[in-house]
Amino acid sequence: MNIYSNEEWGSKTGLFNPNATLTADLNLLFQIAIIIFLVGGVSIVKVRRRFTKHGVVMGIAVSLNMVSMAVVMIPSLLGFRGLFLMPLTRPALVVAIHAVMGILVEILGIWLVGTWIFRHHEIKACAKKRRPMRVTVLLWLVELFLGIYVYVMLYLPI
Ligand code: HEM
Repeated sequence: MNIYSNEEWGSKTGLFNPNATLTADLNLLFQIAIIIFLVGGVSIVKVRRRFTKHGVVMGIAVSLNMVSMAVVMIPSLLGFRGLFLMPLTRPALVVAIHAVMGILVEILGIWLVGTWIFRHHEIKACAKKRRPMRVTVLLWLVELFLGIYVYVMLYLPI
C-alpha cells in the first residue's frame, strides 16, 4: 500500500494510467488545461496587447483552479496519510509545498481578477499590478509543475 496516495479517493482505474485513480488522471488533464490558459493569457497581453481578453482568460484560469482545488485537491490532500504520518519525507514535503503554493496562487488570482471586476473593468488599475501579476504567473507555473511531479512520484513506477 502506498501511504502517500489517497486510495479511498476515486476508483483505481485511471484514464491512461492503470496505477492512477480516475480522479488523479482527470485532475492531471485539468492542470494541463490551466497551463494552456495561463500561457495563452500571458501571450495575449505580451504579443497582442489585448488587455480585456487577457483579463477574461486569466479569470477562466483562476476559476478552473478554484474548481480543481475544491473538487479534487483539498479533499485529496485531507486523505493523504503520508502527509500526516511522515511529514518530513520528500513526497510529503513536495505535496505540502505544492498545496501551500496552490492556495497562495488562488488568493493572488482572486485578488487580481476580483479587483478588476469590482472596479468596473478598469484596465489602468490592473496595469499597475504588473509586478504581482508576474509573481503570480511564476508561482503558478512552479505549483503546476510540482503537481505534475507529485503525479509522477505517486503513480508512475519509475
Ligand atoms: C490571475 C490573474 C492574472 C495574472 C496571473 C496576470 C499576469 C500577467 C502577466 C504575466 C503580465 C505580463 C507582465 C510583463 O509585462 O512582464 C500581465 C500584464 C498585464 N495584465 Fe495581467 N494578469 C492577471 C490578471 C489581469 C487582469 C484581471 C487584468 C485586467 C484587465 C490584467 C491586465 C494586465 C495588463 C493591462 C497588463 C499589461 C501591463 C503592462 O504592460 O504595463 N491582468 N499580466
